[in-house]
Amino acid sequence: MQGQRNELELMTDKARILVTRRLLQPNEDRLKSSYDATLSADDHIMSADEIVDAAEGVDALLICVTEPLNADVIARLPESVKAIMTLSVGLEHLDLEAAQARGIAVMSTPDIVTDPTVEIAMCLMLGAARRVTEGAAMMRARKWDSWTPRMLVGTDVTGGTLGIYGMGRIGRTLAKRARGFDMTIRYHNRSRLSFELEAGASYYTSIEALLPASPFLAITAPSTSETQGFLNAERIALLPDGAIVVNTSRGNLIDDDALIDALKSGKVAAAGLDVFNGEPANVRPEYLDLPNVFLTPHIGSAAMNARAAMGDMLLDGFELLRAGEPVPNRVV
Ligand code: DGY
Repeated sequence: MQGQRNELELMTDKARILVTRRLLQPNEDRLKSSYDATLSADDHIMSADEIVDAAEGVDALLICVTEPLNADVIARLPESVKAIMTLSVGLEHLDLEAAQARGIAVMSTPDIVTDPTVEIAMCLMLGAARRVTEGAAMMRARKWDSWTPRMLVGTDVTGGTLGIYGMGRIGRTLAKRARGFDMTIRYHNRSRLSFELEAGASYYTSIEALLPASPFLAITAPSTSETQGFLNAERIALLPDGAIVVNTSRGNLIDDDALIDALKSGKVAAAGLDVFNGEPANVRPEYLDLPNVFLTPHIGSAAMNARAAMGDMLLDGFELLRAGEPVPNRVV
């Protein structure tokens, strides 16, 4: 489909772009200088109605995961809208079929988010295993009064075994970084990787087979109707006792009741979580209170160069689209 025809018919020299959130300065500077851009003044999350109204006469939307565009909203977008750019690799907030049906091109930010997200995955794994939440809380509460051989003894990461659920770009890069800690890598993925891409990782044909073999479990599969809620009570029971769970994908891959119970019982020794059901306002309070949870607020891709490159990737893709060229980061 790409490059066969230019559905855009963007006749203006300066395309009109509605940007829903505050972006990094280099991205906003480029938008201001090269486009007729409506930038967010206050970074509030625009409602669907606001977006539909503000999109009147606009050629493209540049949105984030905070602005879900379902089929109904996409149907209500003005005719002028020919492209949606999302500052994310995740696409679950967009109804791609609805966009495709309306001839609206969708572009995302694959690849660029991989390294920073894996940095956070490693940080979560180390932080959860080595009880950093408890250590930091103790220090900030000024309660550290003695060094003792028994204080905050955690789980060794070096030489451990990591099961990775979802061996796409992020899963494979996590495997590479974890090998730096001499970890053994096991994985489950919809399909087995090639010998080269496996790079020594062992393939498990089902998630049920992978879980008992995963003292560390990292969730890096995308959020889809098949993966949502996969880590439920039955599957947690399959994990080794004292397992450590890390999630940098989306909160909805986890059944919160089940994980919270397991964190309380010690079945799961610790979790490192960057993404949550109900984020940001309705994160389960138990996660905030449990000392064996290491938390970050969905900052997987929040690294300076990567975040700026995400904006550039979208605008570069938009330029290719306008020129009728193939767009590498086009989704539909
Ligand atoms: C992504 O790229 O999907 C991140 O979660 C940020 O939106």
